[in-house]
This record gives sequence, C-alpha cells and structure tokens, in this order.
Amino acid sequence: MEKDKLTIVEIQKMKTEGKKITALTAYDYPFAKLLDEAGVDIILVGDSLGMTILGYDNTLPVTVEDMIHHTKAVKKGIKRSLLIADMPFMSYQVSIEDALENAGRLIKEGGAEAIKLEGGVVMQETVAAIVEIGIPVMGHIGLTPQSIHKFGGYKVQGRKPFQAKEIIEDAKALEDAGVFSIVLEGIPLELAKEISKILKIPTIGIGAGPFCDGQIMVIHDLIGLSDEFKPRFIKRYIEVNEIIKNAVKEYIKDVVVGDFPGEDHSYFMEKGHLRPIIKGTKI
Ligand code: KIV
Repeated sequence: MEKDKLTIVEIQKMKTEGKKITALTAYDYPFAKLLDEAGVDIILVGDSLGMTILGYDNTLPVTVEDMIHHTKAVKKGIKRSLLIADMPFMSYQVSIEDALENAGRLIKEGGAEAIKLEGGVVMQETVAAIVEIGIPVMGHIGLTPQSIHKFGGYKVQGRKPFQAKEIIEDAKALEDAGVFSIVLEGIPLELAKEISKILKIPTIGIGAGPFCDGQIMVIHDLIGLSDEFKPRFIKRYIEVNEIIKNAVKEYIKDVVVGDFPGEDHSYFMEKGHLRPIIKGTKI
C-alpha cells in the first residue's frame, strides 16, 4: 500500500481530530483519477450510476455486474482515496448469504476497499455478518434511494419527532453492528447534528446540513454535467453541460465549413514522396 493511501483507519481518525471528510462519487477511470489527484478522501462508486451513467429513472435496476464493471475502472484511477462500492438493490436484502457473496464480489472482483448498503435496524444482522468476515461497511440512512417507492418519491425523512427517533435508532444499530461510517441523506440539519454528536464513527452528509463529519456529492451534480437536476442540497461549482455543448457546436461548425481539420491537424508524407500518389491529384 502506498505511503499516504487512505484506509478506514485514517477516515475514522479524521473525526477524532475534528477534520472534515470529503467524499464524491465516480464511475469511471478518468473521473476517478481527477478526483483522486484533487485530493478527495473517499471515492464512492454509487449505485446512482443507474441514473448518471445508465440513464435509468432510479437506482433500482442496477446490478452487481454493473457495480463490479464500474468499480474496476474507478480502481485504476485511484492512488490515495478510499474506494467504496455500493451494494445495489436486492443484492443484500434477500439473505445474509447473498449479502456476503455480493459484498465479497465487489471487493474481490471490483477491487473496492469497503462497501456501502442502505438501511438501519433491519440491516443490523447483515452488516454485522459482513463486518465479521473482514469487509468494512459504510451505512446509509434517512432518504435511502432504494426505498423511493416506500417513501413515495425523494422526500426529506425525519422531519417529525417519531421519524427522527427511528433514524437515531437506525444510526445506533449500525454503529453497534460495526459500520465504520454512515451516510446521512435527506434529513433535517438538527437531526444530522444530533446523530453526529451521539456516534463515535464519522457521519457523511448529503442533503443533511453542515454539522456532519463529512460531505458527499454526486460528481455529475457538482460539475453540472446535466442541466436537468438541481435540488436544493447541491452546489454547482461549474456548468460543464454548457461548456461541452458549446465545444461540440464549435466542432460541428468547423467540420461543416471546412475549418477542421487543417494542415495543423494533418499528417504529411515523408520527404521525397511529396508528388501526387495518383496521377492528376493535387496535394
Ligand atoms: O449512490 C450514490 O451516489 C450515493 C451517494 C449519493 C451517497 O449513495
């Protein structure tokens, strides 16, 4: 392992040292390399790839094969960041045996260093079994996207006191089961603050306010790769969709009017072979 390669040990230490943890998603080699070189602590191959990469309406159709395929590519771009892969819908809910096998595949075939799965109290036994065989687990509670049909859409969770209590129970159950960290998604900032105070392990927030121990965002949201999705909780640092569209429009124009390729972007024959190849043609 390289000298400054981050592991779950360093990530957990950051909470005790009061250092904020940064996390982003990546789904392929070039983005993984950019994010790693920029210094992000955690790279998550999220099942959000169902939407960002595969164009589905939600994360539910994503398969273990999809996750392994993308995790392998991301792995190649990483030198320092901790690499986590999501367990997709129905790869861990049916039985603990399934969960162990699929978590193992993400580590063994994909090259992930930890896995993430959704659910609190109901997943306690499953999480404990995965941790027991030596695979670090990140929890994910609150607005868990694999349960959108239960929630009736992507709605903030835990606004009512009884719901907030349930989410706190979920967080405690996961910590007891041995997760090294928990993603808190789509919950009020007061609740995220409370959970982050109660737990010894780091909380990583998305749509959960500023009091979490770290933050995660989908990279495509951060750079504005698509102009379709702009919820309150994301911050756009750049509008890459505009930059790309303008570049493509320029390219189309250049090709159509004959400005590209010119001599600068072309190859020439070796010296002494400059005469026309076919009689009558002019170069
Ligand atoms: O799938 C994903 O990208 C995620 C993060 C946004 C937390 O689960």
